[in-house]
Amino acid sequence: MAQPDVHVLSNLEELSRATASFFRAQAERTLEAEGIVFAALSGGSTPRRMYELLASADFRLPWEKIHFFQVDERCVPPDSPQSNYRMVREAFLSRTAFPEANFHRMQAELGDREAAANAYADELSRWLRVSPGEWPRLDLICLGMGPDGHTASLFPGSSALEERKRWVLPNFSERLNSHRLTLTLPVLNAASEIIFLAAGADKAETLAAVLKGPGADERLPASLVRPARGRVTWFVDEAAARGLGQKPH
Ligand code: 6PG
Repeated sequence: MAQPDVHVLSNLEELSRATASFFRAQAERTLEAEGIVFAALSGGSTPRRMYELLASADFRLPWEKIHFFQVDERCVPPDSPQSNYRMVREAFLSRTAFPEANFHRMQAELGDREAAANAYADELSRWLRVSPGEWPRLDLICLGMGPDGHTASLFPGSSALEERKRWVLPNFSERLNSHRLTLTLPVLNAASEIIFLAAGADKAETLAAVLKGPGADERLPASLVRPARGRVTWFVDEAAARGLGQKPH
């Protein structure tokens, strides 16, 4: 994989606008080539504004040709304040004519988390043409990064990082005391385009370690996202970029 591109923006609003523009451009390119886009969205707080912008008239796309999957989800009801789906619904789905059938929600609230993970892998398989023994290849995946270097719901030292067969796993974070469902690393690394968003001073040290460190490090799961046939682009704000020696553009 080539070195990631890193865009440093002055603040979260500029970061969100730059990421929405990049997302739209990549989606248009994929639509031109394939006629359909399969993307996956993360939750958390950083991407909320970018999702709101995608819903605005400035970033109009033919949503009927675009499908959104989830990168991960907390094992809570979909109307819980903790739910990633709820955040995407509030920031994006409720503000656009995005077809409900094109949003593929992880049913992480189900008691049987193994069955829910398998059901989601089946949903991916239903929509993405995956040859036997291959990984589902998403066109665009939006990821965040926690201050501990986690991404998706792949946490430092987690056995989930070793998964090389399953597409979706239940996982638990002791630090967050939170049960999750998550796409696995091989699915992230099968993607064509990975877009990382990171903002805030609390991520500066980890971001410098991920981008300037010796390379893949299981203590920093975000450093393991290295798509073999894909590209990684980071959109970070000045506060998170403090350790990179790059100025905003
Ligand atoms: C989640 C996310 C997670 C997130 C990071 C960063 O379920 O929380 O998918 O991977 O991207 O924790 O979260 P913030 O954007 O809130 O810092």
